[in-house]
Amino acid sequence: MVRPIGFLVGLGFVGVVLWSFMWGLIAYVQEPPVPTAEHEFHLHPKEVAWSFDGPFGKFDRAQLQRGFQVYKEVCSACHSLRLVAFRDLTDLGYTEPEVKAIAQQWAIEAPSINPESGETATRKPLPADKFPLTYPNEVAARAAQNGALPPDLSLITKARHGGADYVHSLLTGFQDQPAKLLKEFPDAKTPASLHYNPYFANLNIAMAPPLVADDQVTYADGTKATKDQMSRDVAAFLTWTAEPKLENRKRTGVAVIGFLLIFTVLTFFAYKNVWADKKKG
Ligand code: HEC
Repeated sequence: MVRPIGFLVGLGFVGVVLWSFMWGLIAYVQEPPVPTAEHEFHLHPKEVAWSFDGPFGKFDRAQLQRGFQVYKEVCSACHSLRLVAFRDLTDLGYTEPEVKAIAQQWAIEAPSINPESGETATRKPLPADKFPLTYPNEVAARAAQNGALPPDLSLITKARHGGADYVHSLLTGFQDQPAKLLKEFPDAKTPASLHYNPYFANLNIAMAPPLVADDQVTYADGTKATKDQMSRDVAAFLTWTAEPKLENRKRTGVAVIGFLLIFTVLTFFAYKNVWADKKKG
């Protein structure tokens, strides 16, 4: 009795699936999805071989320092890094006096309070301070950026599919709109205040290309600052800001797997030993 009931229930499920599939097919044939410029011209990030990829991946400290330089000299004009403190920079290989100097010379001051009047004031940042915000709040940011909001970059490589690859592709992806796009979608012309970039979700980004020329920054370590190099370096730096403990995580993973392997061998021999004097069969 149970079998035929089970069979009927199964048949019911199959019937429902077929029914909904049929309706989906009818809707698709009656109204096929309209192709959009986003769908046809959006590109996935180019894959880059990063030093921090794979189970043994490590940050390249020199690259992180170069990336920080790009952030400091270019991106910090618009983007904040509110979750990172100056003292965290010792992770990149800067000494404590160097970090102190970086904080002291930072272009934006940290908020403070006048000890006598109690009014809000500003002071030079200290190593323990987080990077001061570029704009005090969203309204001020939008007012300065033509209505667009430059997102905080602390976690951006975690917040976007493709992470560092995406940041690198986005920064190197600014270009003229392809003629083919305008021919197929005449309405999709990039508005005057936006910039065409096939790696950005809707193809038109409010950020003007920030890295426009080779040697826009002068690297202290003598690396040639091509646009591609600067984009890679800042993407690596933003991977560190989003996951400063990445190396610890990977090291722990390798150690745990190693431990489990040894433990497996030990338990195998223990098992052999326990059953050694029992006859087979
Ligand atoms: C002149 C101001 C300005 C500068 C300089 C600038 N940006 Fe932007 N950025 C913006 C604005 C505005 C947006 C928001 C764009 C939008 O939403 O259309 C943005 C968005 C972004 C985004 C997010 C894109 C997304 O998927 O939402 C990233 C990543 C980014 N910028 C990285 C950088 C990096 C890295 C630099 C330095 C090399 C930099 N930006 C320099 C203004 C700037």
